[in-house]
Amino acid sequence: MSQHSDSIAPHGGQLINRIATPEQRAEFLDKADFLPRVKLEARAVSDLEMIAIGGFSPLTGFMNEADYNGVVNDMHLANGLPWSIPITLPVSEEVAAPLKEGSLIRLDNPYGTFVGVLQLTQKYRYDKRHEALLVYRTNEEKHPGVSVVYKQGVVNLAGDVWLLERNPHTLFPTYQIDPLESRSLFRGKGWKSIVGFQTRNPIHRAHEYIIKCALETVDGLFLHPLVGATKEDDIPADVRMRCYEIMLEHYFPRDRVILAINPAAMRYAGPREAIFHALVRKNYGCTHFIVGRDHAGVGDYYGTYDAQYIFDEFAPGELGITPMKFEHAFYCLRTQSMATTKTSPSTREERIHLSGTKVRELLRKGELPPPEFSRPEVAAELSRAMQAPEISYEI
Ligand code: ADX
Repeated sequence: MSQHSDSIAPHGGQLINRIATPEQRAEFLDKADFLPRVKLEARAVSDLEMIAIGGFSPLTGFMNEADYNGVVNDMHLANGLPWSIPITLPVSEEVAAPLKEGSLIRLDNPYGTFVGVLQLTQKYRYDKRHEALLVYRTNEEKHPGVSVVYKQGVVNLAGDVWLLERNPHTLFPTYQIDPLESRSLFRGKGWKSIVGFQTRNPIHRAHEYIIKCALETVDGLFLHPLVGATKEDDIPADVRMRCYEIMLEHYFPRDRVILAINPAAMRYAGPREAIFHALVRKNYGCTHFIVGRDHAGVGDYYGTYDAQYIFDEFAPGELGITPMKFEHAFYCLRTQSMATTKTSPSTREERIHLSGTKVRELLRKGELPPPEFSRPEVAAELSRAMQAPEISYEI
């Protein structure tokens, strides 16, 4: 289908499709038993999927050394396009050694299932500490993104990939809306301006407030929670998805919102990840992207608005997508509404905002977060999930 009538072109101008055609798939399956194998970590499986569906356009595979260096050092690919997070396939020395440049490699998921193919063009070593300092702005191992880098292999495998087949998501098949489809949905609704919202949390009042402020000025909202790998104490995706459904059912006009999953893994790279998150949403067809307080941050590694300032490091128009920046939102007791310091004269004592840790503490004690912080239906769902024996997460 033509993408010409879309409000925004994919990053690099063309939506990438690296899903094997039926013929390619048959050929790969024929060869499967004879190809050298590499087992992917969960993050690499997500990356493979994102590349294949065009979420990471213009990437067609895992980054080679020139792209990697450009991205780490200067936030640009070798062809000059902005890109802020390395998308690499790191393996151990032992795994890399027998693999020949120029050959096809079979990619398996962590359970040993054949999921894709890599046309290996390059193997290269890289400096983990350097990557940590530039991408994550810290070399502390306790940073969850840095810790992944330190634990992963020392050799990056580069080359184009194919996803063997696009299967429905096991948990959320109806919310699996890939970039080609989201673009078509936006066109179908006649939306010219679409704001993307990234989240890895249930939607609380502050999220709802900034989303709605944004929605007042655009045609539609693409609610795009990340469901790839997150750190252990983040709330699991299935619980969050129920909370999003509840929010849509009770608090949003249904015809203004499309809820879809973002299969990517979380990096917790704060500012760098905000750019990355925006470019990915551009590929899904969003013209605008929300960046609030400490976007994609963790602990105290980043300043509250660092993820907003980083957008100024790019020339006007270079990114294509427009960031919508919001200050720290809270419930204001003085004006009896959600607000930020831009819109409310409140003192600190008049502002209700709870940290994730505080919310977990309340839920653990069997108490619900107050209605000024969380809509009661969402609070009840979180509490239910916490008490339910089948729930996997430690809170
Ligand atoms: S994130 O890691 O995905 O960024 P989260 O799901 O908490 O975490 O945030 C989603 C978006 O909402 C981000 O853009 C974040 O900056 C923004 N945000 C979260 N809480 C607030 C708040 N209290 N005020 C303003 N923006 C917020």
